[in-house]
Amino acid sequence: MNEKYQIAIDGPASAGKSTVAKIVAKDLQYVYCDTGAMYRAVTLKAMENGIDVNDEIKIGKMLDDTKITFKPGDPVQKVFLDGTEVTEKIRQTNVTNLVSTVAAQKRVREVLTDWQRQLASDGGIVMDGRDIGSSVLPKAEVKIFLIASVDERAERRYKENLAKGMNVSLDQLKKEIEIRDQKDSTRKISPLTKAADAVEVDTTSMTIDDVVNKILEIVDSVSMRK
Ligand code: DC
Repeated sequence: MNEKYQIAIDGPASAGKSTVAKIVAKDLQYVYCDTGAMYRAVTLKAMENGIDVNDEIKIGKMLDDTKITFKPGDPVQKVFLDGTEVTEKIRQTNVTNLVSTVAAQKRVREVLTDWQRQLASDGGIVMDGRDIGSSVLPKAEVKIFLIASVDERAERRYKENLAKGMNVSLDQLKKEIEIRDQKDSTRKISPLTKAADAVEVDTTSMTIDDVVNKILEIVDSVSMRK
């Protein structure tokens, strides 16, 4: 397979997108881009600068002077905000609970979509998010839409948290996931949607390896059709 495709992986919170997207990218020797991390970094910057997360004008202006970059890392990709590593900070609960508000803003979406398209312009990229196949890269050769039940997603987040020494109840996580699903799917601009030509994969009872293999099969089938 010589072509360098754009691979879009979308789906709701905690459906396992970043875990599998990173492995698929490594396997294909593609670049991996976690677009959720970009929205999280913008949210963190607003919070650290004392900007109200509802203040679209101030956040829009802040973006003129903001740089988000990635570096490969294990087990997670490293995220830098204006040159400072924020990989862990952007996963804190306070950022997680406010990010949907920032991600719904027009200017934020315009600027981040533009950066994402630049990153993907040469192909050879696996990009995960909510609107990649439907809006950011509508011509992506491969579009995957990952889903899993809310119970399964809360359970996965619970285990991840425990491994990091955080003890948030399963019920609380379930509620947070439901609120985020609702906000991400109902916002006016580029809501979480399955592109018409995306392949839906329900990961509820699949292992990570199963999901990765399924995506690689889909990539192979696309390359055979070309
Ligand atoms: O995937 P995540 O949980 O890290 O995403 C964080 C938030 O960013 C999530 O609430 C939805 C938003 N997001 C988005 O609106 N568009 C994307 N392409 C990626 C994430």
